[in-house]
Amino acid sequence: MHLIADLVASGLTPYAFGRKANLDLLHPSPFGADLHMVAADDPDNLAFHHIVNRLNGLAYGGKDMGMPAWVQIDCGILPSAFIGFAMPASDLPERLKWDLDLGGHDGLVPVSEAISIPTAEPGRWMSYSMSTVVSGRQVGYASKLLSLRAYGCRSTLGVAQFDNFALRLHTRFGALEIVEPHVPYHTCPTNSFVYALDLKGGHVLDRLDRGEVIDDDREPSFMLDAHDTGRMIEMADRTRAGTHRYFLLPPGAIRTDEGVLSPILEQVL
Ligand SMILES: CC(C)(COP(=O)(O)OP(=O)(O)OC[C@H]1O[C@@H](n2cnc3c(N)ncnc32)[C@H](O)[C@@H]1OP(=O)(O)O)[C@@H](O)C(=O)NCCC(=O)NCCS
Repeated sequence: MHLIADLVASGLTPYAFGRKANLDLLHPSPFGADLHMVAADDPDNLAFHHIVNRLNGLAYGGKDMGMPAWVQIDCGILPSAFIGFAMPASDLPERLKWDLDLGGHDGLVPVSEAISIPTAEPGRWMSYSMSTVVSGRQVGYASKLLSLRAYGCRSTLGVAQFDNFALRLHTRFGALEIVEPHVPYHTCPTNSFVYALDLKGGHVLDRLDRGEVIDDDREPSFMLDAHDTGRMIEMADRTRAGTHRYFLLPPGAIRTDEGVLSPILEQVL
């Protein structure tokens, strides 16, 4: 099994959508799958620009909820590229065509996107979006995998909320080091955290594409209630003081009758 090749064989086309100069620097065929390059600075690709925005909005809660256009440009297209899967408009269910406002567009339609942008740290990329309007085929997760390989990314930073089920996908890449356990200046200040992930020189990506599981047999030190802000603040204080380190272990988030719990490994330094 090869996740990316299997999705391509099922009729999905991997694409990259960004500034032409960025597209030229991406790996052209991550995991052996040729990227269909869509230059965002070519006016002929304006429809693609709109559809990426609508798919992002639809996935996150409604087609008008997409990232603001200036974010899509300033924080996506100019520094990097959106990477995901597309399919011919004719293959889309009628409902989805309607929801995506395709109008007369009859070309390739992006149905997922993942994006990371480079940080000042060499090899470190900040991942800030992963979304899809096709469920049950791992298309969203596979987009993140594909994008990290296309960028040549070695390690990532990300922000998440402890009760977001997507943590189950993020922790497939390995235990997440919780570098900021509490982010009071975030839009969601109660349970957002910043994580860092080491991709082991990219080796992790190859293993995931082969369908392998990145095992972590370490036992959690405690289960964090996804809404226990007080505990998160305590973890943040200890992290800043340099006395403790924290990791979010796979599977990242566990639903229980009492709410969502996160398996945390605590290391006393
Ligand atoms: C998160 C997202 C990108 C995942 O897309 P995907 O990889 O194509 O998701 P799939 O439908 O194939 O599901 C992948 C896995 O997640 C699990 N999953 C899906 N929805 C779930 C839910 N609500 N709760 C728990 N697990 C869920 C599936 O069971 C599957 O697990 P499996 O592979 O072990 O069977 C997609 O759901 C999405 O766009 N969500 C909205 C945007 C968002 O929240 N993005 C993440 C924030 S960074």
